[in-house]
Amino acid sequence: MIIALNNKSNLDKYEFLDYQERINRIDSKEQIIVCPTFLNIGNYTIRKFSLGAQNVSSTEEGAHTGEVSAKALKSFGVDYCIVGHSERRQNQKESNNEINKKIKQLMAQDIIPILCIGETKEERDNNHYKEIIEEEIKTAILSVPNYDTIIIAYEPIWSIGTGVIPTNEQIEEVFSLIKSILPNNKILYGGSANEKNIDQLKKIKNNDGFLLGGLSLKPAELSIFLNKLI
Ligand code: PGA
Repeated sequence: MIIALNNKSNLDKYEFLDYQERINRIDSKEQIIVCPTFLNIGNYTIRKFSLGAQNVSSTEEGAHTGEVSAKALKSFGVDYCIVGHSERRQNQKESNNEINKKIKQLMAQDIIPILCIGETKEERDNNHYKEIIEEEIKTAILSVPNYDTIIIAYEPIWSIGTGVIPTNEQIEEVFSLIKSILPNNKILYGGSANEKNIDQLKKIKNNDGFLLGGLSLKPAELSIFLNKLI
């Protein structure tokens, strides 16, 4: 399974060095992708896990103050990059079109995008979630060659950081929808997954792994989670 660790904007330089030492001790057969902050990417040294970023510029390098290009990420050994996380869609007003541009920048540098999609509580309650998810996927892959390699992370927004998880049936319904558009892509689940609910979540059909936020910051609990996957 793919286990992507989204550190979000946590861990300063010193905290990250300590964290890195602790997760380096984790012994797991899963494919682990660590996604630190941009600044901590430069201090990443773990060889047995992959390195991911949490965001990328939608443009090439150039006159774009404050942006980090896909080319620069690649030069630091980044092989994966989260795009379209709901926190960025909501707080930075990232649109599906901008996400599409970011995916193109990443693919041009052979960085595999981890595309986050998912509905709000309101969209689920109003039964609009399928249209929202379809639109998020279709716009993101527009004119993208080889989009089969993109990893999709289904993260219901109402589940992120809330401790509330969907039923496996709700997740499987969305996974089927994703598979109907993207039959060959890997799909992850994300949203409050932890060492306590993994016994339930690991039964999700056609699941290729998990995107972990809060749990990524707790090496001891993460270890328990990974052991329960075996
Ligand atoms: P969470 O975050 O595991 O803390 O809910 C997941 C995410 O935002 O990717």
